[in-house]
Amino acid sequence: MKHFIIFGPPGAGKGTQAKLMVEKYNLRHISTGDLLRAEIKAGTKLGKIAKALIDDGNLVPDEIVLRMVSNEIVQNPDVSGFVFDGFPRTTTQASSFDYHLKSLGMDVNGVISIIISDDTVRDRIHHRALIEDRKDDMNDEIIQNRIVTYHSKTEPLIDYYKKQGKYHEIDGEGTIEEIFDKISLLIEML
Ligand code: AP5
Ligand code: MG
Repeated sequence: MKHFIIFGPPGAGKGTQAKLMVEKYNLRHISTGDLLRAEIKAGTKLGKIAKALIDDGNLVPDEIVLRMVSNEIVQNPDVSGFVFDGFPRTTTQASSFDYHLKSLGMDVNGVISIIISDDTVRDRIHHRALIEDRKDDMNDEIIQNRIVTYHSKTEPLIDYYKKQGKYHEIDGEGTIEEIFDKISLLIEML
């Protein structure tokens, strides 16, 4: 089994590239953002807690996302691997996740980090706002909060995974196909 983390700022193309990875390498996609949006849509208790945080571009508590990811892993014992999208996002999530994976005899093979500028983040999200209906895409202040949250809380994970020798950067400014070609080369090496 091979497991990958697809990492990057909002709008970097994590979801887009994860879907291509799933098709080509028969992986199971675990997107914490998608799981949380599904909880909101279903009107669950968890969804009610998450809604205000997500709509304002703030992170949901670590315990909630850790539990969600752990459930997804145990419910899919027969997959050939996972691609984790939008998770982990804090150093607490990363260290708890490592501990949990170890207890399951699993490990992450690589962290694929898609690098784009903050200006490209804004362009991509503005574009998506015309197509999809995500409340956290609709307002520049909220988009800015997501960017700031990424730099302050999530970017420290770069060093965390560099220390483990698992961190790999991809230039995310090209076309979807160009980026996926680079990701494919990387996956086949890992
Ligand atoms: P989440 O859903 O993970 O959102 P995000 O990280 O802000 O990332 P996005 O989904 O906005 O972007 P993406 O990188 O997937 O890009 P996409 O492929 O769509 O999280 C949402 C919220 O949930 C968080 O703010 C937080 O509140 C909560 N949450 C989630 N996980 C959490 C966690 N672990 N802990 C705590 N809270 C958590 O692409 C974007 C657009 O660009 C699309 O329109 C796409 O078509 C286009 N595009 C993609 N690639 C290219 C390209 N190469 N060229 C041109 N356009 C492109
Ligand atoms: Mg996404």
